[in-house]
Amino acid sequence: MPSLRGRDLLSLSDLSADELAGLLEFAADLKAGRSNPLFPNKVLGLLFRKASTRTRVSFSVAMYQLGGQVLDLHAGVTQVGRGEPTSDTARVLDRYLDVVAIRTFDQSEIEEFADYASIPVINALTDLEHPCQILADLLTIQEEFGDLQGLTLTYLGDGNNVAHSLLLGCAMVGMNVHIASPDGYAPDPTIAAKAEALMPQGGKVLITQDPEAAVQGAQVLYTDVWASMGQEDLADQRLPLFQDYQVNDALLSQASPDAIVLHCLPAHRGEEITHEVIEGTASRVWDQAENRMHAQKALLASVLG
Ligand code: CP
Ligand code: NVA
Repeated sequence: MPSLRGRDLLSLSDLSADELAGLLEFAADLKAGRSNPLFPNKVLGLLFRKASTRTRVSFSVAMYQLGGQVLDLHAGVTQVGRGEPTSDTARVLDRYLDVVAIRTFDQSEIEEFADYASIPVINALTDLEHPCQILADLLTIQEEFGDLQGLTLTYLGDGNNVAHSLLLGCAMVGMNVHIASPDGYAPDPTIAAKAEALMPQGGKVLITQDPEAAVQGAQVLYTDVWASMGQEDLADQRLPLFQDYQVNDALLSQASPDAIVLHCLPAHRGEEITHEVIEGTASRVWDQAENRMHAQKALLASVLG
């Protein structure tokens, strides 16, 4: 088990490359039943301001399987939704909980929470990053191809939270990462630069507007919704801008012949991915969703020590 006792995971780059590799190995051990750590009486809080199926349920089941308990603290059922300051909430929940996973809009909110709480704070999705998703994604890719180093992942679509964490995670494991987005939707240049800096010599970060160039040689095609949570009112105006970035059979046929397709889910069939591709032989989305649970169980056990 990697020793991450007491640590936060606000960004994937809070881990070293060795710690990330260790977490993936530990997650594989947990999935295979080779390890069975127990944390009785430990309590995980889920403080969410956005909807969630996978993250909420996979964190809950992982914690139950570790012998712990879970408290669902959606903003609407706590004083958080009525504007109690983050600094106050953090200092109070710190006295009750052993670990907290937070899903919100601004990265600064989880950073502030972590400043005021001594328990491990886990980013369960912000507008900037989705690190827990990428732990599961890398586990899924590792199951398919073995060694991650030197593989190429191409992400098509909005260069926001999932793309940002993919940039960091792929760079940390030595995977080439290509991001193809419409004009105005490229990833944050600061995160792209951080990925460049993390990438071992010989690896490549490509940020482009050309989807066909981006998929050449890729072993993994990845997409996400074109309008994220909180941006629903922009969905219609984005549709025409994103059409060329749809993961469909034509684009898949230009990737490596053994390419697999991932999607963090929920998916909008007919928009960012076709029905044929998500239900087709290259799709690994159900294994990917399952792996959220194994990866987060590894993370919880590691931060609880
Ligand atoms: N992929 C993901 O985070 O799904 P949920 O929004 O359902 O948690
Ligand atoms: N980019 C999406 C990911 C959902 C898991 C969103 O933020 O809504």
